[in-house]
Amino acid sequence: MEFSSPPGPCQSSVPWLRPWMVSRVCRRTSSSAQSQRPISPGNPGRASIASLLLSGVTLKFYHRDPTLDSESARGYLWCTSRLELPNDLYDTLLTIWRSSAARSVASRAPGDPVLSREELYAVSRKVRELSRGLTRQRALAGERYLSDPDLLGAYLLHFWPISYAQALLCLAMVRRAGGSEPGSVLDLGAGPGPVSMALLDSGAAHVTACDRSEAALALARRIAVDRGHTLATRQWDALKSTGLPRGPFDMIALGHTLNELWSGHPDRIELRVGLMKKLGRELAAEGRILIMEPALMSTAQAAIRVRDGLVNAGYSVEMPCVWQQACPALPDGTCHGEFDWRPPAGMVRLAHAARIGRETLKMAWFVLRKEKRDEPALPPAGRSSPDGGLYRVVSEPLLSKSGRVRYLVCGPLGRFALSAPRDCRGAGIRSFFALARGDGIRVTGARQRETGWGLDDESRVDVVERTLKLG
Ligand SMILES: C[S@@+](CC[C@H](N)C(=O)[O-])C[C@H]1O[C@@H](n2cnc3c(N)ncnc32)[C@H](O)[C@@H]1O
Repeated sequence: MEFSSPPGPCQSSVPWLRPWMVSRVCRRTSSSAQSQRPISPGNPGRASIASLLLSGVTLKFYHRDPTLDSESARGYLWCTSRLELPNDLYDTLLTIWRSSAARSVASRAPGDPVLSREELYAVSRKVRELSRGLTRQRALAGERYLSDPDLLGAYLLHFWPISYAQALLCLAMVRRAGGSEPGSVLDLGAGPGPVSMALLDSGAAHVTACDRSEAALALARRIAVDRGHTLATRQWDALKSTGLPRGPFDMIALGHTLNELWSGHPDRIELRVGLMKKLGRELAAEGRILIMEPALMSTAQAAIRVRDGLVNAGYSVEMPCVWQQACPALPDGTCHGEFDWRPPAGMVRLAHAARIGRETLKMAWFVLRKEKRDEPALPPAGRSSPDGGLYRVVSEPLLSKSGRVRYLVCGPLGRFALSAPRDCRGAGIRSFFALARGDGIRVTGARQRETGWGLDDESRVDVVERTLKLG
């Protein structure tokens, strides 16, 4: 429970609810919460507030900010809620790992929630091997590494919770933007099913996981049963033209899969765009495509190129882009999201042993829709100033030699640097100095500079959408 200064709408929309009530309910529910449901968008009434408190969602309370319109206010209530990983998730993974073929060393009983030294040593070596193969050297990308039980086990205990958490965040953001739980979903390149499980845990009615590794799909099915879900699976090879289940699907998700397809092929981007267009035919008219990719420079740039290819083909980017044309980060730059999270303790121990940092969740991600979206409304000042338009923060804060704090932002006027002197004291721009990558902002009083736009004591920055975090 946290109290903080503006902005925030809660007290206006739920006048009867007092902070002490929330604090009490939160304290009682958050410790016992097993799984968290995102808050439904919409004006929260008594029933919905009560149900989300009882379902264990922790609300932060903010004082009312009269400058927030109801749309921003709704978004703000949403984004100040806290998502958490289910408490028992990692125990499930450990139990299934111990009792499956996905390990060659297991010196403890299946239900033991902690890896023994021997297990830790063996798995951490495989996690390092996998990490190197999928990141730095990328020698494993597109290879059949999940056919090796030890690598599959390492994937389950290290990469699985990351993909699950990332998908949970994306789905929460779709909900925040007004999307309902998808009825029927295709998860392609599902592996042992982290994205499928995030979908099912978030309320998707029917998920079909497809992958060319049957061993990985078998693990996905076991995890689904353990979590009380039914998961349909289908062995499928993206490089062959057969075997894809027929739609229409409300969502087609690809978690860290695209970068593995035609990897090393000179026409890989065109081939991936071609596959996505084919998949689009299996999408319901209102359906969504969710793409999550590693945030490495090469994989994020490739993901952006696929995004651009789909935009060219008439798709709109629902999230996270405000800008609807070719991504201005290319050809030299890149763009990705970054989210705070609290990884499961067992995973932290394993990552530490493998000497891999997982402090934040980074990914290149897009939610695309088939119909073309209108261009984002130009700010009231037209093309002459960003004032009033919605902009997404797409960088960390950077401090220039001249003492200015600078962020890259992207919106109706494209991508540019927005900066303010570090010692600026204006009350209206206090929130500027605490922005995070992914926040949505509106500015007033920006002045053009040689490079980008500048803020000063008279300017104002309103955070209208906070980036989500996990737990
Ligand atoms: C990095 S894993 C991602 C697994 C899961 N979606 C996630 O987000 O953690 C990549 C997956 O793509 C699958 N894959 C790679 N090439 C494939 C292909 N040609 N056809 C189908 N699946 C493929 C692999 O078997 C693997 O499960």
